[in-house]
Amino acid sequence: MALREVLQFPDKRLRRVSEPISEITDEIRTLAADMCEVMYDEPGIGLAAPQVGEAVRLIVVDTDWQSNEDGEPVERNPLTLVNPEIVEREGTLIWTEACLSVPDFEADVERSEKVRIRGTDLEGNPVEILAEELKAVCFQHEMDHLDGVLFIDRISRLKRSLYVKRRKKQLRRELEEGASAPRG
Ligand code: NI
Repeated sequence: MALREVLQFPDKRLRRVSEPISEITDEIRTLAADMCEVMYDEPGIGLAAPQVGEAVRLIVVDTDWQSNEDGEPVERNPLTLVNPEIVEREGTLIWTEACLSVPDFEADVERSEKVRIRGTDLEGNPVEILAEELKAVCFQHEMDHLDGVLFIDRISRLKRSLYVKRRKKQLRRELEEGASAPRG
């Protein structure tokens, strides 16, 4: 089965505010499983539903999975959270972030150092997670996606505009190359 496509900046669907999930249906469970597959395949350490075009409040995170020499994950421990919310924050740190939806770019972002997160699992059971450092950053990054926020919104205007210019140039080039490619 083909993997779901990850939407990329400047796709407008990444800017939608996602809806809370009122009922965990089979469709939601399938979406969560699909999101894990995409995350390990890319590879990434987290993914939010809007990145695969679904505007619902669902994220998956796995900050410490290991892969073998072929890059295949051998130790998966994905955390799936439905309707996640940050209920407590402590401290700040600067972390270099990247995003599967923002190709070829990374930048330092200021985040909370520790966060307490509440949501539910796929059975609807309440979950509370206390996350620090990388894990805390990852949760904040993924939860931003649910509000249509990308990490490039949290960097200086100058850095962002340089990236946007470069990205537009890249897309133009892809379009030109695509248009001139032979069609079979
Ligand atoms: Ni992201």
